[in-house]
Amino acid sequence: MTSNNQFGPKGWTPERLGFLAGKTYVITGANAGAGFEATRILLSKGAKVVMLNRSVDKSIAAISTLKQEFGSDADVTFVPMDLAVLDSVREAAAEVMAKVSNINALICNAAIAQVVKQEITVDGYESQLGVNHYGHFLLCGLLFDRIEESKGRIVVVASEGYKMGLKTIQFDDMNWDKNYHPNKTYCHSKLAQMMFAYELQNRIKAANKKVKVYVCHPGASNTSLIGKKVNLPTRITWFLMVKTGMVQTAEQGSYPEIMCSTEDNLKQRAYYGPSGRWNWVGPVGECKLESFALDQDVLTKLWTLSEQETSLSWSL
Ligand SMILES: NC(=O)c1ccc[n+]([C@@H]2O[C@H](COP(=O)([O-])OP(=O)(O)OC[C@H]3O[C@@H](n4cnc5c(N)ncnc54)[C@H](OP(=O)(O)O)[C@@H]3O)[C@@H](O)[C@H]2O)c1
Repeated sequence: MTSNNQFGPKGWTPERLGFLAGKTYVITGANAGAGFEATRILLSKGAKVVMLNRSVDKSIAAISTLKQEFGSDADVTFVPMDLAVLDSVREAAAEVMAKVSNINALICNAAIAQVVKQEITVDGYESQLGVNHYGHFLLCGLLFDRIEESKGRIVVVASEGYKMGLKTIQFDDMNWDKNYHPNKTYCHSKLAQMMFAYELQNRIKAANKKVKVYVCHPGASNTSLIGKKVNLPTRITWFLMVKTGMVQTAEQGSYPEIMCSTEDNLKQRAYYGPSGRWNWVGPVGECKLESFALDQDVLTKLWTLSEQETSLSWSL
């Protein structure tokens, strides 16, 4: 837990938000969970939100719910995108580049977690790495120029799980063919997302670009992440955690990503989220960032590999 929260004892809350009319936020996986709640709060302040979701039906339902709450003029749309399919990411990015003239923040929120057995995406990647890391790596690269023109931000939604796995990237077996484990493999993908963000900061600085990159986590939040596809013991544990109040609401889980998308005076080489018990709940602020997430050899190697795997050469 970090003492001296820069936002005071309550930490960051949406009460700090001003009016966001004229601002545009692009967010992945916003039909449910923390992403949906982030969308709600951004819309409540007059922002435009473009959701990048894999399910058309869930997106239509989410938009309908949001328009019921905020009125038919609420500026919320979606572009279909499946992060598990790199061609789908390319198509979605092209549509965003054609239709969205300004991106104040791209929020990399979508994820899958605790996938019971090793699954491989159509592009040949272990599914959690493919969706959570490679999909977002490609999306960020394809939207980077628009975010740069907008002097915008990239927000990576990570997880406390980054320190519960191998604490490094398993370059000799990225697909976990030999040691697949639902949680450790998820943690690996979330660490990869964080290491991407910190290396992106390095490259932006070296190229003298303006985009800011922030990393946050939602603590333990009552969303649909631990769903039907997760193994029974994990679901039972999660159910008990929710019932005993160890888990906060999905709305609270959205605060760190909204904060990182909107707040001035944040540090980039940092890690933000709930800073109370075990960083699962509590005031949103800066949390301790473990040094292995900044291992420069690993950052460089992961970047090079990710460019190769996604066939994307960043201009950085
Ligand atoms: N909840 C927690 O306690 C917790 C803890 C640590 C970190 N996190 C992180 O918080 C973020 C938000 O998760 P959440 O808890 O809000 O989970 P959630 O309720 O399951 O929402 C995840 C969102 O990601 C979307 N998604 C999944 N696979 C996708 C794909 N292939 N392409 C596009 N979108 C896809 C989901 O779409 P569908 O509805 O179609 O599945 C859903 O909209 C994630 O990055 C997660 O790793 C959550």
